[in-house]
Amino acid sequence: MALVGPPPLLSKHPFAVLLSDLRDERSASVPFPPGETRFSLARTRRFADEPLPMLLEAYERFGPIFTLRLFHGNVVFMLGPEANHYVTVSHASNFIWREGHFRDLIGLMGDGLLTIDGEFHRRSRLIMLPAFHREHIAASVDVIVEETTRALDQFTVGGVVDLYAATRRLALRVAMRALFGLDPDGERARAIDAAGLFEQALSFYASEYLLRVFRGRLSPWARLQAAARKLDTLIYSEIAERRATGRRGQDILSLLLDAEDEDGNTLSDQQIRDEVMTLLFAGHDTTTSTVSFMFYELARHPEIVARLLVEQDEQLAGRQPTASQLISGDLVELELVLDETLRKYPPAWVGPRRAIEAFEFEGRTVPARAFVNYCSWASHHLPDVFPEPESFRPERFTPEARAKLPKGAYVPFGGGSRTCVGMRFGQLEVRTIATVILSRFALSLPDDFRLQIRQMPTISPRAGLPMVVGPRPAAPVAGLSAAA
Ligand code: HEM
Repeated sequence: MALVGPPPLLSKHPFAVLLSDLRDERSASVPFPPGETRFSLARTRRFADEPLPMLLEAYERFGPIFTLRLFHGNVVFMLGPEANHYVTVSHASNFIWREGHFRDLIGLMGDGLLTIDGEFHRRSRLIMLPAFHREHIAASVDVIVEETTRALDQFTVGGVVDLYAATRRLALRVAMRALFGLDPDGERARAIDAAGLFEQALSFYASEYLLRVFRGRLSPWARLQAAARKLDTLIYSEIAERRATGRRGQDILSLLLDAEDEDGNTLSDQQIRDEVMTLLFAGHDTTTSTVSFMFYELARHPEIVARLLVEQDEQLAGRQPTASQLISGDLVELELVLDETLRKYPPAWVGPRRAIEAFEFEGRTVPARAFVNYCSWASHHLPDVFPEPESFRPERFTPEARAKLPKGAYVPFGGGSRTCVGMRFGQLEVRTIATVILSRFALSLPDDFRLQIRQMPTISPRAGLPMVVGPRPAAPVAGLSAAA
């Protein structure tokens, strides 16, 4: 028998969903926290385009908990260390993901780990955790190095590459091979452009709020569904082939195919498809953004690059790093750069939830069924927690400095029972890709490049990341002064 899945959605029809949201809001038994609660399309648009300054302004005016009316409904935001801890750890059982602000992702990912709650979430997580144990992910290093080398072989010194697009293709190939044992060069995978299809599906989140409600043939939703259907053919045919041949490996697909709970329940093809789609999405989109933002900042901070190169020369002396070096974060300077990148640009920037019961936080009430979001991106930019938050300063994460951070201050991977299941894999992948790039090239920004950030729904450079490819300097550039 198949493992019992999550409760069905109240309705799939977007207008019915909007009406039900409005009904929930009307029947609130306690007031929403103060904020901007009048309908405003301009505010909704601004939020889609530049949520960070908006949230920081609201924090200044209203404090760590406030309400913004976005499109049709009130959304409560909770910012700062205490708020993050409250939502993800101390009161996590009062919040569900499935009916939160990003519920449309169910249209792409179905009922995978990200979109489910409660007992089904707990059981599904238990099935998958072994695949993310240290020794399992250590086995992925060779694949990551091989794929990165292959991708970098396309770079030519003197040319310009879109690092964002190149990393997206690379990260998807890594996810396919390392997580699922799928052959990205096999006939089935070559027949579709998986990276392009994810880009197409997720562009739903870059579209106008109003357009997201429509379901017609040319709507953003239809594009999302069309992309999902093509990705499905790849995943379902792999499931069918594995079931028919009994072929298994060390990958997550094998785990899912053989998973059985204590009552002998197994996962259906659809449940396996949903987990695979979730991990393919979560496993490539976030790392892609992290690598891109890291190299954007490095291009603006040659003194940090110089330290990274000294570290490479001292510790690696021209050899590839070992899995154990990469897994443990032994390249200390690189680790600080990674932590600071994830502070300034946490790709999964918002934690969308729905409150089950009404609650009180910092003297403000929040009604049952309210949309509640915690937000790492804004929390990582509060100047009383991270002084001069716009400055890129890896030294914020030395062990001494980190020990002084309040609980819940730094949450790029979320927290509690929903902490990112792929955290170790993601960190390993970014460290490995960064190490290989730094060992071969120096990447700089074109003079006229100005970073703009989009949310789709993870944050990434809006127009890709064009970078000029130069040779790796033989020795670190000496005598550079610290940049702002
Ligand atoms: C730099 C890389 C990554 C970052 C910054 C990141 C960030 C996050 C965050 C913040 C959450 C929690 C969201 C919430 O509270 O609503 C999350 C959840 C999740 N992540 Fe990641 N992630 C990364 C890489 C990965 C990778 C590589 C995978 C898969 C291989 C992955 C799979 C997942 C899944 C399945 C969840 C849902 C976990 C659950 O609800 O139990 N992530 N991630």
